Amino acid sequence: MRSTILVAGSLNLDFVAGVCRLPEPGQTVTGTSFEMIPGGKGANQACAAGTMARRKAPAEPGDAVRVEMAGCVGRDEAGEMLLRSLAGAGVAAEAVGRVDGVATGAAMINVDASGQNTIVVIPGANARFAPSDVDSLRGRLRECAWLLLQLETPLGTVEALLRAARQEGARTMLDPAPAQPLARGLLSMVDILTPNETEACLLLERAPRRVGLEDAPDLARSLRALGPRAVVLKLGDAGCFYSGPEGEQSAPAFAVRAVDATAAGDTFNAGLAVALSEGLPVAGALRFANASAAVSVTRKGAQTSAPERDDVERLLSTGRI
Ligand code: RIB
Repeated sequence: MRSTILVAGSLNLDFVAGVCRLPEPGQTVTGTSFEMIPGGKGANQACAAGTMARRKAPAEPGDAVRVEMAGCVGRDEAGEMLLRSLAGAGVAAEAVGRVDGVATGAAMINVDASGQNTIVVIPGANARFAPSDVDSLRGRLRECAWLLLQLETPLGTVEALLRAARQEGARTMLDPAPAQPLARGLLSMVDILTPNETEACLLLERAPRRVGLEDAPDLARSLRALGPRAVVLKLGDAGCFYSGPEGEQSAPAFAVRAVDATAAGDTFNAGLAVALSEGLPVAGALRFANASAAVSVTRKGAQTSAPERDDVERLLSTGRI
């Protein structure tokens, strides 16, 4: 049985300022804290999958979920920090290239007192993750159960990876973040598309708005009509909604005290992939993914908020962190 999760995507060093409130355009505000934290949507998914996968005793010898990361960092201290963070989460990083002459990706993040954030990403080495790198990943794709992708690396590379995954028999989960328009040809190679409400509206060329559970079926069906086999809409504190070959269902969010929403969506995807790789049915996998994201928002930072397996299990069984 295939039991590897391969995450292909971005690695960023996050420069995180705590603020009482997010600045308006043209406004200067005084920060309350500053930290440098390993991040990047791809590496966040890999680290969270790694920490959640490693506590589970395999049902059969050899069934443990293994997590690998592919992408690019620069030859600098930020790149070293990101590789150390992956190693600490038990993620194999042999497919992360070190690129000369370019800095590791960076993100400028402001987090306000309610845990909401704004993020500016400077791609750096992530922009060097090229379609020509995909051939060297074919062997890994042949072994893997799930390929996890996001949109902080070149779109041509995402497309080449989706095509290669299809040819090598790996299932694909695409987080269409940061939001950008996507062609039907690309979307039709996706097994599970996991947009939040902003990304869903942009893909459908609709005006951005808050989406509640009542709007979710129409939105998810419209997205499926663009090509993906299944859609999981991430609805924040309204939980999530699935539409796919297994029917339609929602799963409520867990009520927790949020301190920082950074990487909540990345952690959700990691939880979903871990649960599906372990053979959970859709309902259980959605619940596990919601619990993963809930644990992450109670902690500060991106990879610093990756939950351990025990944290998720405790929330699932007691409803408490
Ligand atoms: O999803 C959160 C991530 O977005 C941050 O870690 C930042 O690096 C940006 O990629």
